[in-house]
Amino acid sequence: MSVRLQALMRASAAFLLFFLCACDPAVPAGEVSGDCRTEDLYKGEQQYFDEVMVPEVFEVYCTVCHGSDKIGAVERKGATEGLNYDDFEGSRAWNTTFPGFGTWHEMQVQTMPPMGRMPSTEELQLVLDWVNCELAARQADDDDDSAAGDDDDDSAAGDDDDDSAAEDDDDSALGP
Ligand code: HEC
Repeated sequence: MSVRLQALMRASAAFLLFFLCACDPAVPAGEVSGDCRTEDLYKGEQQYFDEVMVPEVFEVYCTVCHGSDKIGAVERKGATEGLNYDDFEGSRAWNTTFPGFGTWHEMQVQTMPPMGRMPSTEELQLVLDWVNCELAARQADDDDDSAAGDDDDDSAAGDDDDDSAAEDDDDSALGP
């Protein structure tokens, strides 16, 4: 067999292998339960969303369609209006424990993203943890509010006065 042909076959095998591996990353087990360890509750805050979730997952896989700079059905490629993965409030509105609904469901059954490279197992795990901790942190915030009327935890932690104020306002406006 010629060297050329061998090289070609090796290249095709690598190509095929790449696609087999890249198209079907294992989906981590787990469901949206709203369970989150206390020390991970920070993952539910806007800062974590902005600094970790957006650059590591959502900007890579989602905002090309679900971006707040994408206006109209054509630019959004039909992506649901108002569901923008660079916007904390817009995306957390899709985090609920309703079975079969929302960000984790779409990613778990691998319908989102609908095209291109699929997120890795680790990236999928980030999303599942984010959804659960975001739900849990929201719950914890609400509990704090009704108990004390103020976010003692947040101010003790140091920095997020503006964030917590904004979150609380939005929460009451948003509903779920
Ligand atoms: C190529 C464009 C495109 C990309 C990239 C994309 N989406 Fe979508 N998304 C759509 C379209 C179109 C719809 C509306 C039709 C549908 O529901 O399938 C949608 C709808 C959704 C919905 C709502 C489904 C419902 O119940 O109505 C969710 C949640 C979602 N996308 C999450 C994501 C996430 C998370 C990512 C990134 C991991 C992502 N999408 C990437 C195009 C995209």
